Amino acid sequence: MARERIISSESTGQAEEALNVSLRPQSLDQVVGQCNVIDRLNIAMEAAKGRGEPLEHLLLSGPPGLGKTTLAFVIAQEMTGKPPRITSGPSLSKPADLMSVLTNLDTGDILFIDECHRLPKIVEEFLYPAMEDFRVDFTIEGGMSGRVVNFALRRFTLIGATTRAGLLSAAMRDRFGHEYHLDFYDQPDLAEILRRSAIKLGIETKGGALEAIASRSRGTPRVANRLLRRVRDFAQVRADGEFNCAVVDQALEIQQIDELGLDELDRSYLSTLIRTYDCGPAGVEALAASLGQERDTFEDVVEPYLLQIGFIIRTRQGRRATKNACQHLGLPFVPDKDAAANRSKEPGLFDEA
Ligand SMILES: Nc1ncnc2c1ncn2[C@@H]1O[C@H](COP(=O)(O)OP(=O)(O)OP(=O)(O)O)[C@@H](O)[C@H]1O
Ligand SMILES: [Mg+2]
Repeated sequence: MARERIISSESTGQAEEALNVSLRPQSLDQVVGQCNVIDRLNIAMEAAKGRGEPLEHLLLSGPPGLGKTTLAFVIAQEMTGKPPRITSGPSLSKPADLMSVLTNLDTGDILFIDECHRLPKIVEEFLYPAMEDFRVDFTIEGGMSGRVVNFALRRFTLIGATTRAGLLSAAMRDRFGHEYHLDFYDQPDLAEILRRSAIKLGIETKGGALEAIASRSRGTPRVANRLLRRVRDFAQVRADGEFNCAVVDQALEIQQIDELGLDELDRSYLSTLIRTYDCGPAGVEALAASLGQERDTFEDVVEPYLLQIGFIIRTRQGRRATKNACQHLGLPFVPDKDAAANRSKEPGLFDEA
């Protein structure tokens, strides 16, 4: 992305991750929200522990910044008392890249593969027997032709994380015993996450300041923690360290974040859809081209939250902006002509058969 988006739910890099690690829950009981997922996880972990078996492979899906990596670390801690082995889809280009990791795993160890929708096909296929039968067929290059050697692995648990479960092949998806989808957090949960982060960072806040940040965090803990730090900077430099609602408002206004937590990129996405495409339908490719952005940025980062708050809908023909989105931006709403025309074509009560 050309410029850093303060409310982007994607991580902005290593410095931010280092800060986030210090704010990360260390055990399952410190994880806020996602009750449904946590309940099911607790049952699965207790059952596996009771049988003295490793946990079945599990897939964590959901938009960036909702806690997939956090959960993988917490699960590894609870199951093995140590962090998981970590790798990611794009960093594995060939089976050999995975080979040493796999053969070094002990029984019950957790292997975390981030962005597993970006695993190259050849690595994905190499993983299938590893996941299913705990063995791999590895081709050792040499001589005229390669020699295939079959290696037995110890029973490990693979935790896959993806922002786009839909891009995973069915074969891959079927090999996970559990699939957990993380949803956007509600405001009380975000406020609680912020309260804990404020304590860890030694920030004292007044009257509803954290709630005010929570309501502008796009349902995303990573965004909430980032806004907290930006408001802290502002409070320190411009408000004598006073951290209250009014200071939150001023700080976020400077960052051009509106009362729903939308930033310039969200607003330009919406206004292009509304103005240039008469509220749509418009394809995501066309929208990305109009704004000089990557399609992936829109699909991963911008659209999930706009869908969640009902500002856009997905139709077979493309994205459409809703009346609420138009109202929020103060732009006129254009009803879907095609949908209206199709409705009028449907046989009515008084139509001749
Ligand atoms: N349930 C939670 N409770 C408290 N803090 C959380 C929770 N979930 C996430 N966080 C905070 O948000 C930060 C981002 O979460 P995390 O890195 O786990 O997201 P992610 O889903 O892996 O994102 P990505 O898709 O970009 O990898 C964490 O460092 C942590 O501080
Ligand atoms: Mg992650």
